[in-house]
Amino acid sequence: MRVPVAVLLLVVLSCLLHGADAAVRWPKKPLLFPAIFSFGDSYADTGNYIILERDRPFNYSPYGETFGRPTGRASDGLLVIDYVAKGVGLPFVPPYLAKGQNFSEGANFAVIGARALDQAYFLEQNVTSPAPMMNSSLGVQLRWFEELKPSLCNNATKGGGCRDYLSGSLFVLGEFGGNDYLAFLAQGRGANHTSLRPRRY
Ligand SMILES: *[C@@H]1O[C@H](CO)[C@@H](O)[C@H](O)[C@H]1NC(C)=O
Ligand SMILES: *[C@@H]1O[C@H](CO)[C@@H](O)[C@H](O)[C@H]1NC(C)=O
Ligand SMILES: *[C@@H]1O[C@H](CO)[C@@H](O)[C@H](O)[C@H]1NC(C)=O
Ligand SMILES: *[C@@H]1O[C@H](CO)[C@@H](O)[C@H](O)[C@H]1NC(C)=O
Ligand SMILES: *[C@@H]1O[C@H](CO)[C@@H](O)[C@H](O)[C@H]1NC(C)=O
Repeated sequence: MRVPVAVLLLVVLSCLLHGADAAVRWPKKPLLFPAIFSFGDSYADTGNYIILERDRPFNYSPYGETFGRPTGRASDGLLVIDYVAKGVGLPFVPPYLAKGQNFSEGANFAVIGARALDQAYFLEQNVTSPAPMMNSSLGVQLRWFEELKPSLCNNATKGGGCRDYLSGSLFVLGEFGGNDYLAFLAQGRGANHTSLRPRRY
């Protein structure tokens, strides 16, 4: 008997989609990286934003539906960063603002709505929407990482130094930039490219 190709495709597809369920056990793989450090906005935030701003849609259904609870992700299920973590055999990257835990296998600095440029730039440009203005730019996230580093390296290497641990780790940077444009557009202004000079961090 010939099984129609379309039916096979459907079965494969539904298996793949089912993989989005957080409860599914993924095969254990040898570790490629000791840790993942992630920076970005809603494409990567695994819970920082709702620690800063508790009463937001991301803290309510249908967000997190496939987890059975909202997780602070701007998604009903997993984000690409979650698939990356699973793919390299590490736990979901924990949000940095959930302080006090052992971040030796990674920390996620991404915040929903985060911008590439600092808050001060938007204030200079009289761009104050959409509210709330968050202090969570790329520069701020990199500062958070710098602040975490001493304790991080100490925990992860038991005083053995940072170099090998950090150079072996996976750094995921971005997405960044969409919210910079959105801020201007939300006020009915086009982004002024000539004022978007490169900044040093
Ligand atoms: C280091 O370990 C201590 C004790 O478990 C923990 O409180 C602290 O948050 C850890 N720091 C990092 C960066 O993992
Ligand atoms: C911002 O608003 C102030 C006060 O209205 C004005 O003086 C200034 O020129 C504005 N700056 C920009 C970049 O539009
Ligand atoms: C933003 O956060 C950074 C890093 O935590 C801090 O140094 C800075 O003072 C904050 N800025 C504002 C405007 O709150
Ligand atoms: C943190 O976790 C790492 C890796 O899981 C482990 O080797 C280390 O002992 C832990 N450190 C602390 C202080 O809990
Ligand atoms: C864009 O920004 C530059 C530099 O801040 C300024 O000189 C220019 O007037 C701005 N143009 C518009 C259309 O706002």
